[in-house]
Amino acid sequence: MILLFVFLVGLAFGKPIIENFSELKRFPFVTYKRVWVGTPAESEEVAVPNVVIAYGSREPAQVVAVAGEIAYYLGQWTEDVGINPREVRKGRIPRVIMPLKRALEMKKHIILVGTRNSVVRELGLTFRGPTLKVVDYKGRKVLIVGGRNSGEVVRAGRFLATRIVGFKAGAYRTFFSFVKLRGLIEKGNYEAALQLIEDPSGLSACGKNMSLAAPMVLRFPPDVKKVVRKRNRIMYVDIVRALKEGNGEEAKRLWREAMKTCYMCHQGLGIERLRKFIPNPEIHSKHQRIARSFGLDCTACHRGLTEIRGY
Ligand code: HEC
Ligand code: HEC
Repeated sequence: MILLFVFLVGLAFGKPIIENFSELKRFPFVTYKRVWVGTPAESEEVAVPNVVIAYGSREPAQVVAVAGEIAYYLGQWTEDVGINPREVRKGRIPRVIMPLKRALEMKKHIILVGTRNSVVRELGLTFRGPTLKVVDYKGRKVLIVGGRNSGEVVRAGRFLATRIVGFKAGAYRTFFSFVKLRGLIEKGNYEAALQLIEDPSGLSACGKNMSLAAPMVLRFPPDVKKVVRKRNRIMYVDIVRALKEGNGEEAKRLWREAMKTCYMCHQGLGIERLRKFIPNPEIHSKHQRIARSFGLDCTACHRGLTEIRGY
């Protein structure tokens, strides 16, 4: 009875059935690549899609449309589609959404929207409601967006688009900007640091994921809300003041205080642990290389309360 109730509440909030939580949260949505190789615009470690989004050929328009929504949020996270001039010359411009048949000819991981397709048939999958499920299929991972009918597939797809891919897009932009902010403070470049805080795709990108998480934040216990307020005050008010005053030491001290709030929620220090999985090292470890580019080694940030640095 209690289980059924939880299940119904889950549905009421539009939350799909998630069969393998960590695998979903650690799904390799993006990877980093060198792009525009051989041109003056060549850049290292650019976030590009690591998946294609596919659907069966008999899906109705509403299911295909939700594939488009997922692609839009993936585009918020990535910085490039992964173009290289040599391939463009051969007419090969990367695509993100395609019919399953074509997707299976590639080696990439797949987000498979809908149930009217050969993979779901072959694996004999059945659904109890809107569902997100990760399976291994012929050497790649497939994230299946399923349900008992098209309406349920659309609900699961929207949740994936906004609450998972969209959330991560904001969270990672904020995270990498936060690390870069420390580097800029360290170098005494306060002007650039201030710009980074205000940039909507820099530190303030978390406005996006914070508003997406708003229904969840409302239900947080008071001690957690306090941590959220503390983090926001430091990042968007106190550090700004210190930087405007040119007080680098104070900005650095505040930065450390803000990092402790990340650890409180992610590791459960002093409060309930809210991030209940270990991040995907391949995606997450870019922060280490950003830090190193400013000459910072691990212990500049990982010591004391924030010592943990193993995936
Ligand atoms: C109020 C608690 C809270 C605070 C404070 C917090 N986070 Fe998070 N963070 C979360 C939760 C919860 C998740 C996981 C959400 C989910 O289930 O997908 C998360 C996820 C993330 C992710 C995505 C990881 C992944 O693999 O999906 C990043 C990146 C991140 N946080 C960065 C930060 C940084 C950097 C800070 C500090 C400046 C911070 N967070 C502060 C609660 C918090
Ligand atoms: C400029 C500061 C900085 C430096 C330098 C740095 N990190 Fe981090 N690291 C962070 C912040 C901030 C977080 C919190 C975000 C989170 O938990 O997802 C973090 C989180 C992590 C985590 C996630 C722990 C977990 O399980 O959630 C690992 C692992 C990690 N760092 C490894 C490293 C390693 C290894 C190095 C050195 C090669 C390094 N970091 C250098 C700032 C830094």
